Amino acid sequence: RAPIRVAMLGCGTVGSEVARLLTEQAGELAARAGAPVELAGIAVRRPDKHPELPAELLTDDAAALVARDDVDVVVELVGGIDPVRSWLLTALNAGKSVVTANKALLAEHSAELFEAADASGADLYFEAAVAGAIPLLRPLRESLAGDRITRVMGIVNGTTNYILSAMDATGAGYAETLDEASRLGYAEADPTADVDGYDAASKAAILASLAFHSRVTAKDVHREGIADVTASDLAAARTLGRTVKLLAICERVTADDGTESVSARVHPVMIPRSHQLAGVGGAFNAVYVEADAAGELMFYGQGAGGAPTASAVLGDLVAVARNQVHGGRGPRESAHAALPVRPMGQT
Ligand code: HSE
Repeated sequence: RAPIRVAMLGCGTVGSEVARLLTEQAGELAARAGAPVELAGIAVRRPDKHPELPAELLTDDAAALVARDDVDVVVELVGGIDPVRSWLLTALNAGKSVVTANKALLAEHSAELFEAADASGADLYFEAAVAGAIPLLRPLRESLAGDRITRVMGIVNGTTNYILSAMDATGAGYAETLDEASRLGYAEADPTADVDGYDAASKAAILASLAFHSRVTAKDVHREGIADVTASDLAAARTLGRTVKLLAICERVTADDGTESVSARVHPVMIPRSHQLAGVGGAFNAVYVEADAAGELMFYGQGAGGAPTASAVLGDLVAVARNQVHGGRGPRESAHAALPVRPMGQT
């Protein structure tokens, strides 16, 4: 069978792992996908900064790469909203499936992306956008599609979890611990999106949209970060047998008159030290899902990092390739029942 040809946009920590695994595991991936999966090109801002990659694959023109006739699938690892949004819409409108890790884009514009995918018959997969390596979105979209999910709650940001765990362990303050996390490479050069809760709010919007078949955007998510958590907060929590975690909490809420809506929020929470989430340390993520028939489920693993996130990207890529080989389609999101989103602040 003809190879599935992949355009990769962006080649940083995750992209370089995706490129490595595509090469090193080419035979196994081809066997699982039903066709070879090959890189057709890699778009990066500065091709001269990537001597490790085959020069003939590199380009600085992502828009032209996406539009090329020999590209079947686009893997997007650039991040941010513009210009990525237009590249992905171009791909989807042309019937090219998209695999993306872009939580900010999905948390703002998923409706537009899903509609474009539905209209052309392309797939849109984004397992890597939430909780890195942990298979979480596929269970919400597929495995639990026959159940009624009532709650999704957990730790979805590794940077803040690292900082809060370190503050808890050492008794140090927030600023000092953030500096140490940056020095050790656990926090980004600009940690704002993580520590102010924007990253977790984007992930909460994606989780709530999938879990409740709704359209929740990042703006609908009540958001508080960890910058105001102090050493004395953690000390007080400790005396109560508790610790502090930044949680994303997405719930189906039923009002007195029986009408349902969705509430999504991100904020620091004091939780009992005996709770399983209290034991989640470092850059790990953990998410509970509660559903009527399934009961309680817990998903746990590495929520960030090159290889773990690449695992999720490659899983999506194999799914897309299988669909192309066998004429299938991934899950569609257009049939949302449009459960309303509860105004922020009401919980
Ligand atoms: N900055 C994110 C985190 C990366 O710390 O969890 C993974 O989305």
